[in-house]
Amino acid sequence: MHYPYQIESYDAYKIAYQKSIKDPAAFWGDIAENFTWHKKWDEVLNWNFTEPKIEWFKGGKLNITENCLDRHLEKQADMPALIWEPNDPEEHHRIITYRKLHEKVCQFAHVLKNNGVKKGDRICIYMGMIPELAIAVLASARIGAVHSVVFGGFSAQSIADRLYDAQAEFVVTCDGAYRGAKDIPLKSVIDDALIGNRTVKKVIVCTRTRTPVSMIKGRDVWWEDEIKKVETMGLHDFPAEIMDAEDPLFILYTSGSTGKPKGVVHTCGGYMVYTNYTFVNVFQYKTGDIHFCTADIGWITGHSYIVYGPLSAGATTLIFEGVPTFPDASRFWDIVDKFKVNILYTAPTAIRSLMGFGLGPLQGKNLSSLKILGTVGEPINEEAWHWYSEHVGKNNCPVVDTWWQTETGGCLISNLAGITPAVPSWATLPMPGLEMLLVDENGKEVIAQGDETVSGNLCIKSPWPGILRTTYGDHERCRTNYFATYPNLYFTGDGALRDKNGFYRITGRVDDVLNVSGHRIGTAELENAINMHAGVVESAVVGYPHDVKGQGIYAFVIYQGSHGQDTHGTGELVRKDILQTITRIIGAIAKPDKIQFVTGLPKTRSGKIMRRILRKIAEGELDSVGDISTLLDPGVVEEIKNGRL
Ligand code: WTA
Repeated sequence: MHYPYQIESYDAYKIAYQKSIKDPAAFWGDIAENFTWHKKWDEVLNWNFTEPKIEWFKGGKLNITENCLDRHLEKQADMPALIWEPNDPEEHHRIITYRKLHEKVCQFAHVLKNNGVKKGDRICIYMGMIPELAIAVLASARIGAVHSVVFGGFSAQSIADRLYDAQAEFVVTCDGAYRGAKDIPLKSVIDDALIGNRTVKKVIVCTRTRTPVSMIKGRDVWWEDEIKKVETMGLHDFPAEIMDAEDPLFILYTSGSTGKPKGVVHTCGGYMVYTNYTFVNVFQYKTGDIHFCTADIGWITGHSYIVYGPLSAGATTLIFEGVPTFPDASRFWDIVDKFKVNILYTAPTAIRSLMGFGLGPLQGKNLSSLKILGTVGEPINEEAWHWYSEHVGKNNCPVVDTWWQTETGGCLISNLAGITPAVPSWATLPMPGLEMLLVDENGKEVIAQGDETVSGNLCIKSPWPGILRTTYGDHERCRTNYFATYPNLYFTGDGALRDKNGFYRITGRVDDVLNVSGHRIGTAELENAINMHAGVVESAVVGYPHDVKGQGIYAFVIYQGSHGQDTHGTGELVRKDILQTITRIIGAIAKPDKIQFVTGLPKTRSGKIMRRILRKIAEGELDSVGDISTLLDPGVVEEIKNGRL
């Protein structure tokens, strides 16, 4: 495929950027011309950030899967669309061409239809990283349903909450999933999530691990049986549902600073244009390149840069079922070598973890196919950046540091590989269409004096096509979360520096959201889970620097239960019980690294917990906790310091 909108020089970037800011509608309208539409839009852009109301390409009619599949059939039907590498390297990999993927998506769309799915229905997808996950996602889009993919690490309770919030009527899952040395019993987790559920009518179960599962008559059906029925009828095509550009495409739940995850909603047209545009430009994709994004499709990175971005660009995208350290720490390098991967996109936490194994695992692996490396999910430290660039990229591959969020749909700040300058640990320049600014606590714009580097809270002035449209079922929540902190601005929740060149360096969240191994964990949500444990009176959770995870989780807990104290009085058993509660309520990904039992928390006279103080203690900066005179009981600080883990 040829991309007329691919930026090929630094000057071309500057020109594109200027144009995009001067006339966003003309800029994005031109780009959108390169896609398949049944009808063109009435208006490119209509927006205000006060409601907020954001519409891109409204009135335009399309189906994103025709752009991801059908339009490639004429010229590249036999090109691999998906390459799948299983968890166990001994098992055979799979290669699925565009022709085959089109057929499989169409067949599964029939299955959905046969099971009662209609346009606009919500389908929860809870699967491991197998091609059928991508197929389920695309089939949902094909029939015009709204998918809500839930990462396989979430608990039954988390799924139940998400099913309820989305009023989902359908679930697609697997019997189980392989992840490293573990088997995860997905269907059994779904069964628990469905206890008491009143909306779900059908559960489609794909076979992977063949662990025994319970199948409830009338509700649960096997994927393979359903596909057989469709095959027997000789169905290979499924007419794509015609969607408005502003019809919802998916919901993806993400943690914020309040107690409950929010369902971020993305729509068909803008999301497609934006993920495609950023994929082609950030990674400088060239036809035939093999793109390997190591994220899980359960996160936005997987949605945008395993599925929709690459496939809409006619790329070959690699799906890996396993983990970087199984069966050993050379797994990524084996995959690069085996499939001659050209673009590798991963997370700083994975790089830091692999760095810990030294250079041994890289020895004897041919990585010469690599052209471009990328990172996402958290700030990358310079040491990891250099290791990645030197030992993986052999100083021969540009590294793109891509900053973005679930809410932004695609990359917002990133260098373009080999086109715009790379600076270790700096995400550098905004994408065309993005007008960023830094503001201080009072919402006043921070302007640099001369050549100084300034810092502030990162905001955005106007919408880009991939911005979220709402939070599902609660538009007011969307407004207060993102558009109310600073009037008429989208607030990212991140802090950043900007240097004299206009390059940005993201410093991390400024709200109560932690970033643990690139996963967002809301402290309020985690505290709620801890507080549900019998005997826990109160808790406070903060982050602290962690060598591999970026941020570790430190929980301060007031526990007054009598149960579970072991003979040494260390509280080890209680700690384990609390971890078990968290695993049940949220999932294992939210388990704190440290739990310190305390008798009180540092609170102001109005009862607000002073997290600043706890953060300093967790970080080990015991002498710089700052002013504690306004606390209700300043004595508690000394006690907490003494008990620090
Ligand atoms: C952080 C992931 C620094 C940031 C795509 C953001 C980053 C949050 C970077 C969103 C980066 C993501 N440098 N920080 N390159 N990329 N972040 O929604 O704090 O899972 O707000 O989206 O991750 O996480 P989310």
